[in-house]
Amino acid sequence: MQSFLDRIYPRIRRYRFLWGWAKDRATKARCSLRTEDWREKGFRGAKIDVCGGRNPYRPGEFLNVDIVDMPSVDLVFDITKQFPIDDGIIAEVFSAATLEHLRKPHVDHVLKEFFRVLQPGGMLRVSTPDIEAIAHGVLEGEDLAVTNQHLFGKYKSDQTEDYDLHRWMYPAPVMIKRLTELGFVHAERIPMGDVPHDPRYNYLIRAFKPN
Ligand SMILES: C[S@@+](CC[C@H](N)C(=O)[O-])C[C@H]1O[C@@H](n2cnc3c(N)ncnc32)[C@H](O)[C@@H]1O
Repeated sequence: MQSFLDRIYPRIRRYRFLWGWAKDRATKARCSLRTEDWREKGFRGAKIDVCGGRNPYRPGEFLNVDIVDMPSVDLVFDITKQFPIDDGIIAEVFSAATLEHLRKPHVDHVLKEFFRVLQPGGMLRVSTPDIEAIAHGVLEGEDLAVTNQHLFGKYKSDQTEDYDLHRWMYPAPVMIKRLTELGFVHAERIPMGDVPHDPRYNYLIRAFKPN
């Protein structure tokens, strides 16, 4: 027997886009409320996900920063410029699948901004593709579609956005050295945990701003 939904589906199918639109509106409204709450507190003690884009990390716990004002984005700004956040007030910075989209001077700028906005004792976790593991993958005969994807980003489509391409990557030991040079302490590679990227070809590094 046909369910009620099956019976009415042919008639409501053409309005499916309204469901997507309503969901996006609700997500954006939630993000705006959250951002206003944090703005009133001057963002003191907030956790930020730089740049969560369409794939925010623990939404609700972390504010999603991105240059593109998508429904799931809380704070819109260009991370290659000075962050619109005061010194020493952010409790945690998380960033996945992002630094590799920037040129080297911008990567260094962003790492310095992470240090500047973090509060003393604040934690940074940064994940990017692991160029060393990708190189091993190539030498060991890994599927080229996989290694190229990690090396170059979303390169397959004619409509690939500039933001989707990869530009610079530090191997994990160099990232640890760079973070230490910038003043971070206890910088170390840790398991990927709940970071949703292939652990064979990405790393996660944790570091702290000293107290
Ligand atoms: C590959 S997505 C990563 C999304 C998510 N963090 C994840 O782990 O899947 C990279 C994000 O960086 C954003 N982005 C790229 N350049 C940026 C910039 N200069 N300022 C702010 N966001 C930027 C893009 O819009 C995109 O949402």
